[in-house]
Amino acid sequence: MFSYNTIKKIMFNFEPETAHHMAEYAFKILPKCKFINNAMVKRNFVNHPMLTQELFGVKFYNPIGLGAGFDKNATMVKAMMANGFGYTEIGTMTPKPQAGNAKPRLFRYPQEESIQNAMGFNNLGASVVEENLKEVYPYAIPIGASIGKNKLTSEEDTLNDYKSLIHSFKDLSDYLVVNISSPNTPNLRDLQNEEFIKDMFTMAKEITTKPILLKIAPDMSSQTAIELCKTAVKYGADGIIATNTTQDYSLVPNAKDFGGLSGACMSDKSYELFKAIGQELHDKTILISVGGISDATDVYRRIKAGASLVQILSGFIFKGPSMCKDINEELIELLKADGYSNIKDAIGADFK
Ligand SMILES: Cc1cc2nc3c(=O)[nH]c(=O)nc-3n(C[C@H](O)[C@H](O)[C@H](O)COP(=O)(O)O)c2cc1C
Repeated sequence: MFSYNTIKKIMFNFEPETAHHMAEYAFKILPKCKFINNAMVKRNFVNHPMLTQELFGVKFYNPIGLGAGFDKNATMVKAMMANGFGYTEIGTMTPKPQAGNAKPRLFRYPQEESIQNAMGFNNLGASVVEENLKEVYPYAIPIGASIGKNKLTSEEDTLNDYKSLIHSFKDLSDYLVVNISSPNTPNLRDLQNEEFIKDMFTMAKEITTKPILLKIAPDMSSQTAIELCKTAVKYGADGIIATNTTQDYSLVPNAKDFGGLSGACMSDKSYELFKAIGQELHDKTILISVGGISDATDVYRRIKAGASLVQILSGFIFKGPSMCKDINEELIELLKADGYSNIKDAIGADFK
């Protein structure tokens, strides 16, 4: 078998989006090759009592999830378990299919282990994703569904986009995520205001009892983020995911001046904002930390800052299929070294 470093060298010769399509193709057929798939699950999927927890009524065998945006159309759910992920977040989907922004819109910075994207919610639309989910849901690992508005939807109709998506995915996922934090849909981040969040979660809670979380951007003061998160929780949000990609283009030399940066370059930025939110909310709701994570030390500091779960996207591209296993095994050792018998006891330890 090739090492991931060899595969990465080959893949990085292709345009990032082409490489992504190649990976998607491989991950779509992987579950059909039962022998390889099962061997990968056995090798990569860590199912350990110290890492197992039930959150908003859903059982998670390990805390490392795939961040939204990698599997926009829910075609790779099974392969993500084989890659060791404890859960996966599909989407972001929009009600109608859309092509996304003009290409090129995806860039790698290998030296910085970072990515820049301006994809713009390219996806096949709710009805196709629904069909894909019907093939796989419920699955052995939890599936989150990230929902967003269509680019051309007017301001007045925005809430209706989310409403129809909640109806579409409430019975085809373990939790839902309201994405109003992508930098790549014009004016989307403006929805990160108290009035919209109040209307959003009030509406959502009338439709479903399914857990529904809010994902926020990193490019705001911690005070603003805390206030928005508190409003979301007040009106029924079951959790907060922080953060989406950053528009701080100074984090990578020669970055483009559009889209959002992710990966190692944003680790500290995302952590700092997360910790501020954690201080206020870790004992009041479920917090998920995402942004620049790729090793156990970083996961552990997020847990101590209040994270029940984490998510990784860019790190997976740079580290490959053994990443989750490596992190989970080291995380168990870190927990043991501090005398914890379950991950739950370490959540928010910084504030105890
Ligand atoms: C190519 C790409 C596409 C993304 N698409 C989405 C998306 O559709 N919805 C979303 O909520 N986040 C999206 N994200 C953001 C990630 O889920 C994550 O919040 C961010 O990349 C930071 O995590 P990371 O450093 O581990 O990548 C995307 C990120 C990348 C790199």
